[in-house]
Amino acid sequence: MRLSEARVVLTGASGGIGLAIATALCASGARVLAVARHRQPLEPLLAQYPNNLCWIGADLTLGAERAEVLAEAQSIGGINLLINAAGVNQFAMLEQLDDSDINTMLAVNVGAPICLTRILLPLLKQASSAMVVNVGSTYGSIGYPGYASYCATKFALRGFSEALRRELADTRVSVLYVAPRATRTSMNSPAAQALNDALKANVDDPQTVAAAVIHAIAGDRRDLYLGWPERFFVRLNSLLPNVVDRGLRKQLPLIRRLSQKPDQENPKP
Ligand SMILES: NC(=O)c1ccc[n+]([C@@H]2O[C@H](COP(=O)([O-])OP(=O)(O)OC[C@H]3O[C@@H](n4cnc5c(N)ncnc54)[C@H](OP(=O)(O)O)[C@@H]3O)[C@@H](O)[C@H]2O)c1
Repeated sequence: MRLSEARVVLTGASGGIGLAIATALCASGARVLAVARHRQPLEPLLAQYPNNLCWIGADLTLGAERAEVLAEAQSIGGINLLINAAGVNQFAMLEQLDDSDINTMLAVNVGAPICLTRILLPLLKQASSAMVVNVGSTYGSIGYPGYASYCATKFALRGFSEALRRELADTRVSVLYVAPRATRTSMNSPAAQALNDALKANVDDPQTVAAAVIHAIAGDRRDLYLGWPERFFVRLNSLLPNVVDRGLRKQLPLIRRLSQKPDQENPKP
Protein backbone atom coordinates (compact mmCIF):
# COMPACT_ATOMS: atom_id res chain seq x y z
CA MET A 1 0.00 0.00 0.00
CA ARG A 2 1.18 3.50 -0.81
CA LEU A 3 1.26 5.27 2.58
CA SER A 4 0.68 8.73 1.12
CA GLU A 5 -2.66 7.42 -0.16
CA ALA A 6 -3.68 5.76 3.10
CA ARG A 7 -6.91 6.90 4.78
CA VAL A 8 -6.73 5.30 8.18
CA VAL A 9 -8.82 4.46 11.21
CA LEU A 10 -6.26 3.88 13.97
CA THR A 11 -7.38 2.62 17.39
CA GLY A 12 -5.15 2.88 20.45
CA ALA A 13 -3.87 6.14 18.95
CA SER A 14 -3.26 7.75 22.37
CA GLY A 15 -1.07 4.87 23.57
CA GLY A 16 2.65 4.24 23.23
CA ILE A 17 2.61 2.15 20.05
CA GLY A 18 -0.49 3.79 18.54
CA LEU A 19 0.90 7.31 18.94
CA ALA A 20 4.17 6.24 17.30
CA ILE A 21 2.21 4.67 14.40
CA ALA A 22 0.10 7.84 14.07
CA THR A 23 3.27 9.95 13.95
CA ALA A 24 4.87 7.76 11.27
CA LEU A 25 1.66 7.69 9.19
CA CYS A 26 1.24 11.48 9.31
CA ALA A 27 4.90 11.95 8.36
CA SER A 28 4.26 9.71 5.34
CA GLY A 29 1.35 11.87 4.22
CA ALA A 30 -1.46 9.54 5.29
CA ARG A 31 -4.76 10.88 6.61
CA VAL A 32 -5.51 9.43 10.04
CA LEU A 33 -8.66 9.25 12.13
CA ALA A 34 -7.24 8.63 15.61
CA VAL A 35 -9.56 6.71 17.94
CA ALA A 36 -9.06 6.76 21.72
CA ARG A 37 -10.92 7.86 24.83
CA HIS A 38 -8.19 10.39 25.68
CA ARG A 39 -7.27 13.24 23.35
CA GLN A 40 -4.55 14.88 25.43
CA PRO A 41 -1.62 12.60 24.38
CA LEU A 42 -2.44 13.41 20.73
CA GLU A 43 -2.53 17.22 21.11
CA PRO A 44 1.05 17.93 19.90
CA LEU A 45 0.52 15.71 16.84
CA LEU A 46 -2.88 17.27 16.11
CA ALA A 47 -1.19 20.68 16.18
CA GLN A 48 1.70 19.49 13.98
CA TYR A 49 -0.47 17.78 11.34
CA PRO A 50 -3.83 19.63 11.26
CA ASN A 51 -4.51 18.45 7.69
CA ASN A 52 -3.57 14.81 8.28
CA LEU A 53 -4.89 13.98 11.73
CA CYS A 54 -8.22 14.15 13.49
CA TRP A 55 -9.43 12.54 16.70
CA ILE A 56 -12.64 10.88 17.77
CA GLY A 57 -13.28 9.91 21.38
CA ALA A 58 -14.71 6.40 21.68
CA ASP A 59 -14.82 3.58 24.17
CA LEU A 60 -14.46 0.71 21.72
CA THR A 61 -16.16 -1.78 24.03
CA LEU A 62 -19.46 0.05 23.36
CA GLY A 63 -21.36 -0.67 20.15
CA ALA A 64 -22.85 2.84 19.99
CA GLU A 65 -19.38 4.42 20.14
CA ARG A 66 -18.04 2.03 17.48
CA ALA A 67 -20.96 3.21 15.31
CA GLU A 68 -19.77 6.81 15.82
CA VAL A 69 -16.35 5.79 14.51
CA LEU A 70 -18.03 4.37 11.40
CA ALA A 71 -20.04 7.58 10.91
CA GLU A 72 -16.87 9.68 11.21
CA ALA A 73 -14.99 7.39 8.79
CA GLN A 74 -17.86 7.82 6.28
CA SER A 75 -17.88 11.59 6.75
CA ILE A 76 -14.18 11.87 5.86
CA GLY A 77 -14.82 10.05 2.60
CA GLY A 78 -14.09 6.44 3.51
CA ILE A 79 -10.97 4.52 4.51
CA ASN A 80 -8.58 1.98 3.04
CA LEU A 81 -6.69 1.04 6.23
CA LEU A 82 -7.94 -0.05 9.66
CA ILE A 83 -5.31 -0.52 12.37
CA ASN A 84 -6.61 -2.21 15.52
CA ALA A 85 -3.96 -1.25 18.07
CA ALA A 86 -6.04 -0.58 21.22
CA GLY A 87 -5.34 -3.07 23.95
CA VAL A 88 -5.13 -3.63 27.70
CA ASN A 89 -3.02 -5.99 29.77
CA GLN A 90 -2.57 -6.90 33.38
CA PHE A 91 0.43 -8.87 34.60
CA ALA A 92 -1.00 -11.11 37.36
CA MET A 93 -1.63 -14.77 38.09
CA LEU A 94 -5.16 -15.73 37.07
CA GLU A 95 -6.44 -15.98 40.65
CA GLN A 96 -5.34 -12.41 41.38
CA LEU A 97 -7.68 -11.03 38.71
CA ASP A 98 -11.41 -10.51 39.14
CA ASP A 99 -14.09 -11.08 36.51
CA SER A 100 -14.13 -7.41 35.59
CA ASP A 101 -10.35 -7.37 34.86
CA ILE A 102 -10.75 -10.46 32.65
CA ASN A 103 -13.86 -9.20 30.87
CA THR A 104 -12.20 -5.85 30.12
CA MET A 105 -9.25 -7.63 28.49
CA LEU A 106 -11.60 -9.80 26.43
CA ALA A 107 -13.76 -6.81 25.44
CA VAL A 108 -10.94 -4.42 24.45
CA ASN A 109 -8.52 -6.94 22.93
CA VAL A 110 -10.94 -9.30 21.16
CA GLY A 111 -14.55 -8.09 21.05
CA ALA A 112 -13.72 -4.50 20.03
CA PRO A 113 -11.38 -5.25 17.09
CA ILE A 114 -13.64 -7.98 15.72
CA CYS A 115 -16.80 -5.85 15.95
CA LEU A 116 -15.09 -2.68 14.68
CA THR A 117 -13.65 -4.59 11.73
CA ARG A 118 -17.10 -5.99 10.96
CA ILE A 119 -18.80 -2.60 10.75
CA LEU A 120 -15.92 -0.97 8.82
CA LEU A 121 -15.54 -3.78 6.25
CA PRO A 122 -18.14 -2.40 3.81
CA LEU A 123 -16.17 0.88 3.68
CA LEU A 124 -12.86 -0.94 3.29
CA LYS A 125 -14.31 -3.03 0.46
CA GLN A 126 -15.20 0.14 -1.47
CA ALA A 127 -11.51 1.06 -1.75
CA SER A 128 -9.46 -0.11 -4.72
CA SER A 129 -7.18 -1.86 -2.25
CA ALA A 130 -7.42 -1.98 1.54
CA MET A 131 -5.90 -3.57 4.62
CA VAL A 132 -6.87 -4.55 8.18
CA VAL A 133 -3.94 -4.55 10.61
CA ASN A 134 -4.36 -6.33 13.94
CA VAL A 135 -1.78 -5.64 16.62
CA GLY A 136 -1.29 -8.87 18.53
CA SER A 137 1.74 -9.91 20.54
CA THR A 138 4.43 -12.55 20.92
CA TYR A 139 2.00 -13.70 23.64
CA GLY A 140 -0.47 -14.47 20.85
CA SER A 141 1.74 -17.45 20.02
CA ILE A 142 3.34 -18.39 23.36
CA GLY A 143 1.24 -19.00 26.46
CA TYR A 144 3.13 -17.22 29.26
CA PRO A 145 2.59 -17.53 33.03
CA GLY A 146 1.28 -14.33 34.60
CA TYR A 147 -0.48 -13.44 31.35
CA ALA A 148 -3.03 -16.25 30.91
CA SER A 149 -6.03 -14.02 30.09
CA TYR A 150 -3.99 -11.61 27.97
CA CYS A 151 -2.49 -14.56 26.04
CA ALA A 152 -6.02 -15.89 25.47
CA THR A 153 -7.02 -12.56 23.91
CA LYS A 154 -3.97 -12.35 21.67
CA PHE A 155 -4.25 -16.00 20.56
CA ALA A 156 -7.85 -15.14 19.67
CA LEU A 157 -6.80 -12.07 17.70
CA ARG A 158 -4.25 -14.13 15.76
CA GLY A 159 -6.91 -16.75 14.96
CA PHE A 160 -9.32 -14.02 13.90
CA SER A 161 -6.67 -12.50 11.64
CA GLU A 162 -5.87 -15.81 9.94
CA ALA A 163 -9.53 -16.72 9.39
CA LEU A 164 -10.47 -13.23 8.19
CA ARG A 165 -7.53 -13.21 5.75
CA ARG A 166 -8.86 -16.44 4.25
CA GLU A 167 -12.45 -15.17 4.31
CA LEU A 168 -11.40 -12.06 2.35
CA ALA A 169 -9.05 -13.88 -0.03
CA ASP A 170 -11.23 -13.11 -3.06
CA THR A 171 -11.68 -9.42 -2.15
CA ARG A 172 -9.36 -6.39 -2.33
CA VAL A 173 -8.98 -6.33 1.48
CA SER A 174 -5.87 -7.96 2.96
CA VAL A 175 -5.08 -8.70 6.60
CA LEU A 176 -1.78 -8.08 8.40
CA TYR A 177 -1.18 -9.60 11.85
CA VAL A 178 1.56 -7.88 13.87
CA ALA A 179 3.21 -9.46 16.92
CA PRO A 180 5.41 -7.01 18.84
CA ARG A 181 7.60 -8.27 21.67
CA ALA A 182 7.84 -6.29 24.94
CA THR A 183 7.67 -2.59 24.13
CA ARG A 184 8.44 0.39 26.36
CA THR A 185 4.96 1.84 26.98
CA SER A 186 2.75 2.49 29.97
CA MET A 187 0.92 -0.79 29.24
CA ASN A 188 3.65 -2.53 31.25
CA SER A 189 3.20 -2.07 35.00
CA PRO A 190 6.24 -1.66 37.26
CA ALA A 191 5.90 -5.39 38.11
CA ALA A 192 5.91 -6.32 34.41
CA GLN A 193 8.95 -4.11 33.86
CA ALA A 194 10.67 -5.72 36.85
CA LEU A 195 10.06 -9.14 35.29
CA ASN A 196 11.46 -7.99 31.94
CA ASP A 197 14.51 -6.59 33.76
CA ALA A 198 15.02 -9.77 35.80
CA LEU A 199 14.76 -11.95 32.67
CA LYS A 200 16.91 -9.52 30.67
CA ALA A 201 14.12 -9.48 28.10
CA ASN A 202 14.56 -7.33 25.00
CA VAL A 203 12.30 -4.30 25.14
CA ASP A 204 11.67 -2.26 21.99
CA ASP A 205 10.92 1.44 21.69
CA PRO A 206 7.44 2.15 20.33
CA GLN A 207 9.08 4.05 17.44
CA THR A 208 10.92 0.87 16.40
CA VAL A 209 7.64 -1.07 16.44
CA ALA A 210 5.86 1.67 14.50
CA ALA A 211 8.59 1.77 11.83
CA ALA A 212 8.35 -2.00 11.38
CA VAL A 213 4.54 -1.85 11.17
CA ILE A 214 4.64 0.95 8.59
CA HIS A 215 7.20 -1.00 6.57
CA ALA A 216 5.01 -4.14 6.69
CA ILE A 217 1.95 -2.14 5.54
CA ALA A 218 3.90 -0.55 2.68
CA GLY A 219 5.21 -3.99 1.72
CA ASP A 220 1.74 -5.62 1.79
CA ARG A 221 2.97 -8.22 4.28
CA ARG A 222 0.60 -10.78 5.87
CA ASP A 223 2.37 -11.02 9.21
CA LEU A 224 5.13 -9.40 11.20
CA TYR A 225 6.81 -10.98 14.24
CA LEU A 226 9.20 -8.55 15.87
CA GLY A 227 12.50 -9.48 17.41
CA TRP A 228 15.03 -12.20 17.74
CA PRO A 229 15.06 -14.56 19.70
CA GLU A 230 11.27 -14.08 20.17
CA ARG A 231 10.59 -15.22 16.57
CA PHE A 232 12.64 -18.35 17.28
CA PHE A 233 10.70 -19.09 20.51
CA VAL A 234 7.39 -18.73 18.66
CA ARG A 235 8.59 -21.37 16.23
CA LEU A 236 10.02 -23.59 18.97
CA ASN A 237 6.77 -23.36 20.95
CA SER A 238 4.74 -24.57 17.97
CA LEU A 239 7.12 -27.44 17.19
CA LEU A 240 8.40 -28.50 20.63
CA PRO A 241 6.09 -27.06 23.32
CA ASN A 242 7.54 -29.37 26.00
CA VAL A 243 10.91 -27.66 25.67
CA VAL A 244 9.26 -24.26 26.26
CA ASP A 245 7.24 -25.76 29.17
CA ARG A 246 10.49 -26.73 30.90
CA GLY A 247 12.08 -23.31 30.36
CA LEU A 248 9.04 -21.46 31.70
CA ARG A 249 8.70 -23.86 34.66
CA LYS A 250 12.09 -22.60 35.86
CA GLN A 251 10.91 -18.98 35.62
CA LEU A 252 7.67 -19.67 37.52
CA PRO A 253 8.82 -18.80 41.09
CA LEU A 254 10.15 -15.44 39.86
CA ILE A 255 6.98 -14.73 37.85
CA ARG A 256 4.78 -15.68 40.81
CA ARG A 257 6.76 -13.46 43.19
CA LEU A 258 6.86 -10.40 40.92
CA SER A 259 3.20 -10.65 39.88
CA GLN A 260 2.07 -10.61 43.50
CA LYS A 261 0.87 -7.18 44.56
CA PRO A 262 1.27 -6.45 48.28
CA ASP A 263 -2.49 -6.02 48.68
CA GLN A 264 -3.30 -9.15 46.70
CA GLU A 265 -1.96 -11.97 48.78
CA ASN A 266 -5.29 -13.72 48.64
CA PRO A 267 -7.18 -14.66 45.47
CA LYS A 268 -10.07 -12.38 44.54
CA PRO A 269 -13.58 -13.72 45.10
N1 LIG B 1 3.62 -2.60 25.26
C1 LIG B 1 3.94 -3.85 25.03
O1 LIG B 1 4.85 -4.43 25.67
C2 LIG B 1 3.21 -4.63 23.95
C3 LIG B 1 3.80 -5.81 23.47
C4 LIG B 1 3.14 -6.54 22.50
C5 LIG B 1 1.93 -6.09 22.02
N2 LIG B 1 1.37 -4.96 22.49
C6 LIG B 1 0.06 -4.55 21.95
O2 LIG B 1 0.22 -3.31 21.27
C7 LIG B 1 -1.00 -2.56 21.34
C8 LIG B 1 -0.70 -1.17 21.85
O3 LIG B 1 -0.15 -1.29 23.16
P1 LIG B 1 0.60 -0.09 23.90
O4 LIG B 1 1.80 -0.67 24.53
O5 LIG B 1 0.71 1.08 23.00
O6 LIG B 1 -0.46 0.21 25.06
P2 LIG B 1 -0.83 1.56 25.82
O7 LIG B 1 0.26 2.55 25.72
O8 LIG B 1 -1.31 1.15 27.16
O9 LIG B 1 -2.08 2.10 24.95
C9 LIG B 1 -3.28 1.39 24.94
C10 LIG B 1 -4.24 2.08 23.98
O10 LIG B 1 -5.49 1.36 24.00
C11 LIG B 1 -6.54 2.30 24.14
N3 LIG B 1 -7.69 1.73 24.84
C12 LIG B 1 -7.68 0.99 25.99
N4 LIG B 1 -8.94 0.70 26.35
C13 LIG B 1 -9.76 1.27 25.41
C14 LIG B 1 -11.16 1.32 25.23
N5 LIG B 1 -12.01 0.75 26.09
N6 LIG B 1 -11.65 1.99 24.15
C15 LIG B 1 -10.82 2.60 23.28
N7 LIG B 1 -9.48 2.56 23.39
C16 LIG B 1 -8.96 1.92 24.44
C17 LIG B 1 -5.93 3.43 24.95
O11 LIG B 1 -6.62 4.64 24.68
P3 LIG B 1 -7.49 5.46 25.73
O12 LIG B 1 -7.09 5.06 27.12
O13 LIG B 1 -7.19 6.89 25.41
O14 LIG B 1 -8.88 5.09 25.38
C18 LIG B 1 -4.53 3.50 24.36
O15 LIG B 1 -4.54 4.32 23.20
C19 LIG B 1 -1.93 -3.37 22.26
O16 LIG B 1 -2.84 -4.11 21.47
C20 LIG B 1 -0.99 -4.30 23.00
O17 LIG B 1 -1.64 -5.46 23.42
C21 LIG B 1 1.99 -4.20 23.43
